[in-house]
Amino acid sequence: MKNLDWLDTVRNIDALEGIASLPDSSIDLVVADPPYNLGKDYGNESDKQESKEFLAWTENWLSLVIPKIKQTGSLYIFTTWRYSPEIFVFLKSRMTMINEIIWDRRVPSMGGSTRKYSSVHDTIGFFAKSKDYYFDLDSVRVPYDEETKKARSRSIFVGKKWLEVGYNPKDLWTVSRLHRIHSERENHPTQKPLEIVERIVKASCPENGIVLDPFAGSGTTVAACLLNNRRYVVYEINADYYDIITKRVERIQNGSYNITPISKRNGGYVKPISEKADDNQLSLI
Ligand SMILES: C[S@@+](CC[C@H](N)C(=O)[O-])C[C@H]1O[C@@H](n2cnc3c(N)ncnc32)[C@H](O)[C@@H]1O
Repeated sequence: MKNLDWLDTVRNIDALEGIASLPDSSIDLVVADPPYNLGKDYGNESDKQESKEFLAWTENWLSLVIPKIKQTGSLYIFTTWRYSPEIFVFLKSRMTMINEIIWDRRVPSMGGSTRKYSSVHDTIGFFAKSKDYYFDLDSVRVPYDEETKKARSRSIFVGKKWLEVGYNPKDLWTVSRLHRIHSERENHPTQKPLEIVERIVKASCPENGIVLDPFAGSGTTVAACLLNNRRYVVYEINADYYDIITKRVERIQNGSYNITPISKRNGGYVKPISEKADDNQLSLI
């Protein structure tokens, strides 16, 4: 019988050590939100490396992780424009690139950069191990709001499946970054919104499938897995963040976590935006 002790575990270790210990072809989905190398303080030097050193480290852990992914599996990596070109070229030599997703963090317009355009997005690369990758579109469709639905009641739209069940999420994801007032906020400087990670987990990992997060931070991926019946294995090198994750897991398991999973939120995870005003464009198609 296979040793599955590593399943559903949170470990306070270096990701490289953890990844190396996993069996090959065992992972359905990698959600990797590594340091971006922007000089953030994670209680270690991981975000403050020389560019060359950072890229060599990135290629190193990516090379370790790719063999751990099943043939039907995928990898999502969070990054920014500063290193996405190099990282994506590397990944394209090993995997199939499916999407570049732009996460618009909804940064308010208040002055901003004066010698360039203000950067207000993160980049998420979506890569698959093979063309037979798992993707459950129906689990992440975005429902139309009533106003748009009504505006699309003309005969050419009658019976259209997408009008009833919602449309395929686009590659621009507009989701507010987390502020102190948000109830899901933990004490971590770059915590990702649960709704983004839930979308990834639901679309790219089957129920009871296994998700690996090598850089767990505050445990958003673990939360997404527990709330959506997926298995997980995650690593976090900082002991304080590790404590945050274990407490988050405890709250979910004892029923005191008051964040509603997207599957149960009203109208899906992104509030439907009315597209009624855009409908004059439809006469062009
Ligand atoms: C961008 S944050 C992840 C945030 C996470 N997605 C969340 O929603 O909270 C990156 C994390 O990687 C951790 N980290 C850095 N180097 C690491 C390593 N070698 N092994 C494991 N974790 C590491 C940092 O301490 C930091 O918490």
